[in-house]
Amino acid sequence: MGAKKRIGILTSGGDCAGLNPVIRAVTHCAITKYGWEVIGICQATIGLMTRPLKVMPLTINQVDRILTMGGTILGTTNKGDPFAYQMPDGSKIDRSEEIIEGYHQLGLDALIGIGGDGSLAILRQLAQQGKMNLIGIPKTIDNDVGITERSIGFDTAVNIATEAIDRLHFTAASHNRVMIVEVMGRDAGHIALNAGIAGGAHIILIPEIPYNLANICDFIQKRQDEGQEHYSIMVVSEAVCTETGQTLEQIESLGEIRLGGIGQYLAQKITQSTNAETRVTVLGHTQRGGIPSPLDRLLASAFGVAAVDLIAQEQYDQVVTWQNRQVVSVPIAEAIKDYCTVDLDGPLVKTARGLGICLGN
Ligand code: F6P
Repeated sequence: MGAKKRIGILTSGGDCAGLNPVIRAVTHCAITKYGWEVIGICQATIGLMTRPLKVMPLTINQVDRILTMGGTILGTTNKGDPFAYQMPDGSKIDRSEEIIEGYHQLGLDALIGIGGDGSLAILRQLAQQGKMNLIGIPKTIDNDVGITERSIGFDTAVNIATEAIDRLHFTAASHNRVMIVEVMGRDAGHIALNAGIAGGAHIILIPEIPYNLANICDFIQKRQDEGQEHYSIMVVSEAVCTETGQTLEQIESLGEIRLGGIGQYLAQKITQSTNAETRVTVLGHTQRGGIPSPLDRLLASAFGVAAVDLIAQEQYDQVVTWQNRQVVSVPIAEAIKDYCTVDLDGPLVKTARGLGICLGN
């Protein structure tokens, strides 16, 4: 079995459904299969930066019932790049050494970091600088980590968006309205395309495909005037630009800038150019807050166990990925080098076109 190890686990970046099932799988496998100790690190690297350290030893009892819980019991943050950490006075300082010192103070043999491409890049830089043994697990509702076919959280987000679209069909049909559903995804249109097809949307706009508003309005007007159904469902990804190429953003309470507003913009344009009545639904963080889907629970469990097995084999600087029905480990540097947007020649774009869905062009 090898020497007894003490491993840390943290969740970093935006939360998503499936993080708790990973924490559960890692804890179960490390304790029951290997007899190790597991230390949960709170609020991503902030837990290692803070003194006293913000950590919680994890037991089987603690994690047994978190399989169905959204979010992360460890907490997380998508702020706080430790190499340029923003202090309350606005200045930025490098706090990487405090994190590294925190890791060594805990006497950890290895750290499992669950994060998207940004978090994994930061964790790797810390690991290299501080001789930390790191294993990465990819999570993000955006599904944009190139090397893995699926990241944790994506399936649940697609399910939530699909369910919303399902519901909107009934009310849209009752009023012959155009319903615009704005979904998340950052610069990748995976959620929009997957949920749009699964939910039977009539129009899907993704950042990867430039659109022509006149074509979309013609398409909508035809549906209003002809055929059996006179309503339309449009799914639009948050990073879709205006016709003139402007990205729409919203300023949040703390002055932070978030993508958002394209649904409202399109609604105005459609109202001006068609006689259709239009309504907008912005799904926002509901897509992140769901109960993990069975698929996300499976992926999380498989990734968690594989990550612990890699530590047992002392194979570090690896990310676990899902490829061709297998869990495959890949060097972190390779895993994060490609940002994965929608493949325009891939099966889902073909499927959408084959179904007569308007992709805007
Ligand atoms: O990357 C995940 C994601 O949910 C994006 O789809 C979205 O643009 C962003 O995070 C929202 O971030 P925040 O939680 O900071 O509002």
